[in-house]
Amino acid sequence: MTDFLSEAQALFEYTQTLRRDFHMHPELGFQEVRTAGIVAKELTALGLEVTTGVGGTGVIAILGGTKPGPVVLVRADMDALPITEETEAAYASQTKGVMHACGHDAHTAVLLTVARMLHARRAELPGTVKLVFQPAEEGMGGAEKMIEAGVLENPKVDAALALHVWNERPVGWFGIAGGPTMAGAEIFKVRVIGKGGHGAVPHLAVDPVLAAAQVVSALQGIVSRNVPPLQTAVVSVCTVHGGETFNVIPPAVELTGTIRTFDAAVRQTVLARFEQTVQAAAGAMGCRAEIDLQRLTPATVNDPGAAARVQATARRLFPKTDVDTTNYVTMGSEDFAFILEKTPGCFFFIGTANPDKGLDAAHHHPKFDIDESALPHAAALMTAAVVDLLSGKTG
Ligand code: NI
Repeated sequence: MTDFLSEAQALFEYTQTLRRDFHMHPELGFQEVRTAGIVAKELTALGLEVTTGVGGTGVIAILGGTKPGPVVLVRADMDALPITEETEAAYASQTKGVMHACGHDAHTAVLLTVARMLHARRAELPGTVKLVFQPAEEGMGGAEKMIEAGVLENPKVDAALALHVWNERPVGWFGIAGGPTMAGAEIFKVRVIGKGGHGAVPHLAVDPVLAAAQVVSALQGIVSRNVPPLQTAVVSVCTVHGGETFNVIPPAVELTGTIRTFDAAVRQTVLARFEQTVQAAAGAMGCRAEIDLQRLTPATVNDPGAAARVQATARRLFPKTDVDTTNYVTMGSEDFAFILEKTPGCFFFIGTANPDKGLDAAHHHPKFDIDESALPHAAALMTAAVVDLLSGKTG
């Protein structure tokens, strides 16, 4: 049997060099021009059919096997975050205020490595692999833009895979869940509107500060009183803005925050209760509220069949390590969810933390960095999972 892990390890320098280069030159969503250029160059060098400028700065390459078979899409995201890096790494960001603080640099480098590994075994591959390098995953709609641009058609995709390097778990851990694995996210903006006035004569004003405080408190009742105890949801108010000075009651207060859910029925309940609670709590204080609720992503829901296949692949590849198939879930959100809404597939996690080396800062933290020794794990598992899905292998 082909040893995917040794092959990926032999390509470690390739993966690491690319990852460090992307890390030094991070680009925000829909601005990944340099990154996409390198991606296209690497894929073209393999002799693949490459399309650039898909859904903005996205890149697609088609890798055709030599026999008929299904079409498997593999996606990596390429964007960085508006964060100033605080690591002391030699390969730290050279662009002030922009940083690969989520590991998308690793995803891009890993998928280019997967492309090389799949290309090398093209002669034995049935079906077609669609390699997708997506822009703007961080809440900017990159996946939706690529879907609009037709990434799931021509040829039509039968299954989709993506991975995330994961600093919540150590190197050697793999999280592959059937069913929901990341939460659906909405963002909200609530404007509590009263009537401004002098702080010394509150009876002549309608105080939106008191009303906003009631709204924040009342919202805590949704998860504790309306969501079934064995289900999950989050309602977080994350900003409160109102007023300019100590003796003036402001005319309005603005609240923003996020709602996270996994289950469609729970989501409906939470959204309905959110509107009722905000209006009623504001109304009780004589104020009114304007609510702007936007869906960021649906829940990321893995197809149980596809997840079972990736789990089997991982157990075969890494018999001695920790393959967590007990439905690892996180309240974070991920726009691969839009692709999984339309195509069965699996989104999985590769442990990348190493506390002994100080490499365990959380995602989106200015000190975020990964243990690169996990990169071959990612490349080997993704390549093997693609091969297994294409050949219909279940174990
Ligand atoms: Ni991410």
